[in-house]
Amino acid sequence: MLRKTWYAVCREGEIVARTTPHQVIVHGEPLVLWADSQGNVSVHPAACPHRGCDLGLGRVESGELVCPFHGWRFDMEGRCVKVPANTVRQPVPSGARLKLYPTVRKWGWVWVYTENGYSTKVHGATVPSLLSFPEFEHKNWKYEWFEARWHAHFSRVVESVLDISHLPFVHPETTGQSVDPQVKGLSYQWEEANGQQSLRIYPRPFAPSHPLEPPVEWGREPNPTEGRTEMQLMFPNQWIIRTPMGDGHWMCTYLTFTPEDMQTTRIYGAVIRNFDPSLDWLTQLHLEHTKFVMEQDRRIVESLRPLIAPFEIQKEFHVPSDAPGLRYRSMLKQEWMKEQIATSEDERFS
Ligand code: FES
Ligand SMILES: [Fe+2]
Repeated sequence: MLRKTWYAVCREGEIVARTTPHQVIVHGEPLVLWADSQGNVSVHPAACPHRGCDLGLGRVESGELVCPFHGWRFDMEGRCVKVPANTVRQPVPSGARLKLYPTVRKWGWVWVYTENGYSTKVHGATVPSLLSFPEFEHKNWKYEWFEARWHAHFSRVVESVLDISHLPFVHPETTGQSVDPQVKGLSYQWEEANGQQSLRIYPRPFAPSHPLEPPVEWGREPNPTEGRTEMQLMFPNQWIIRTPMGDGHWMCTYLTFTPEDMQTTRIYGAVIRNFDPSLDWLTQLHLEHTKFVMEQDRRIVESLRPLIAPFEIQKEFHVPSDAPGLRYRSMLKQEWMKEQIATSEDERFS
């Protein structure tokens, strides 16, 4: 999967102000996440350079990560700063250092940029900025977070949220209720802004009467008075659906996808609205509805074979309503191949 991407790995509260590190797996690699007392976060491969103990079993003490096996201590940059078994004359082994992944805290989550290679620059300094949708830039809106873990490959999971024709079959009593199985007037459009690729979809029947309209400008708030539901995928792993509720009110569901390994995808999500922030029952309703719908998707998506959506287009049969997902798949293939070429060139010249 794509490595040069920001992936959400946990909620901020799971590591900030904690004396125990947090463990996650991304691209099949166990990682250890921890924070110092100022809330700075570091993410490293979890294996201790001494004997490979899982540092996620250790503890955080005085701004250092402590291995549970022989007590070696590491600073925020991943440098081993103390080997307790050594005498004062015995130095810390000079190469004993943990690789450091660029990391940021944003919108309630900790994000990791999983580019290969050693980085000495902390907290995203050497990598592209993490962008997301304008919905996260508002202070007073209502956000509620959730997460899920599906036993399915990243490619299948992301394609499923771009798929319109499954609605009446997978969600007959919710989002697919009274939806005509014939997909008419599906509009979608790729666009690029600030170096960021994005796909917008205006699905009927949610958007009953418009042909392809100019998309909402980048950075501009969606306008609910346009009376249409819009989905947007920010390539490769952030997605939102915006539903107008009238009177300038709107609700949306946001999802971001993280490949735990080839068979497992983590989904970090938020339900968001810009009205009546104190109505807890409404938040719960939105949350429960979202979870219910996603659970319906999960059991279907987990059954898809082959596990990975095939890059060879002729290996499956396609119809016009599959177009947005196919467009995504070809983009994924293109970016994946670029990364493979760049990686092999790096190896050749290193
Ligand atoms: S394995 Fe970590 S200190 Fe020995
Ligand atoms: Fe669905």
